[in-house]
Amino acid sequence: MTKPTVLLTGVTGMFGFKVAMAIASKGAMSVRALVRADNLTDSKKAQTLDSLKAQGIKFVEGDLLNPASLPNACEGIDAIVSAVSGDDNIVVTGQINLIEAAQTKGVKRMIHSDFSFDYRKLDWGDNYNSDMRKKVFHALEESSIAYTLILNGCFTEILFSPFLNVFDFKAGQFNYWGDGETLIDFTTTDDTAKYIAEAIADPEMENAALEVAGDVLSMKQLKATYSETTGKTLIENHLGSVTDLQAWIANAKTTASSPDEYLAQQYLFGMVSGKAKLDHIDNQRYPNITHTSVKEYILKAGL
Ligand SMILES: NC(=O)c1ccc[n+]([C@@H]2O[C@H](COP(=O)([O-])OP(=O)(O)OC[C@H]3O[C@@H](n4cnc5c(N)ncnc54)[C@H](OP(=O)(O)O)[C@@H]3O)[C@@H](O)[C@H]2O)c1
Repeated sequence: MTKPTVLLTGVTGMFGFKVAMAIASKGAMSVRALVRADNLTDSKKAQTLDSLKAQGIKFVEGDLLNPASLPNACEGIDAIVSAVSGDDNIVVTGQINLIEAAQTKGVKRMIHSDFSFDYRKLDWGDNYNSDMRKKVFHALEESSIAYTLILNGCFTEILFSPFLNVFDFKAGQFNYWGDGETLIDFTTTDDTAKYIAEAIADPEMENAALEVAGDVLSMKQLKATYSETTGKTLIENHLGSVTDLQAWIANAKTTASSPDEYLAQQYLFGMVSGKAKLDHIDNQRYPNITHTSVKEYILKAGL
């Protein structure tokens, strides 16, 4: 019997590459990856593309912003997993272009590029990036294609990155907003990629959201976990309440030249307010995946 074929986008990106490798190594589906023409001749992408090729992944040339390139990419495709990232043009217009092409070719299911906390619970305007993901989700709901949402909270890697500035290793500081007690969901990129590989091949995940978390910890628990695991102490810097954070964002919106100037705070708002918390974590659905706790991640990353 021929395997179903999945079309992937964003495979040259940080997360899409991991998703591609996870789906290919699971082996339940044949994998075709949509890549922009420039990538095929870009020496910096050669290693990435070689690794994908070595896993049996085939490439098809295309660009989400060139609708004419998409029907060919969707020919014979059963499902799509999109891991693109970028501005409104790419994330919203580009993925809607893909949904439209996919409908004409009878694609049955799509995971669009969310991989996030539960943005369905946020109000419009709470988070610039989440608004884009909601728009694509609604476009999918209105299409003939079944959706599967992958909600994994914050990537554990992002928690420790300068983007959120919670762990400021240079200053030896732990910065947080809120009461410090609200629980937040964290999952590593590797684990999330494995959950995607399961969910896209799972017929029961049609028109459903898979909620997973490698760990669920409050800000205070995060600080304590870091200290207990590494023996290092960070100075606690309480930045203010959730209301203070909202006021900070509202003020930044009036002066910022780009949402990037307050995007990290918008993510922190969804996290420390509990508003985008996952309510139906179901790691047990795929017991073959051993998820990574924050403690295990700290040890593995040598933080
Ligand atoms: N939950 C979290 O904490 C968290 C954190 C980070 C990311 N994420 C999510 O993970 C997803 C992927 O993010 P990422 O950081 O891995 O992104 P990334 O590294 O910036 O990669 C973006 C990918 O999109 C592709 N792309 C851009 N424009 C395109 C177009 N017009 N046509 C086709 N492909 C195009 C890029 O291809 P080229 O190589 O051709 O440019 C690249 O492969 C996003 O949904 C993001 O929100 C979640």
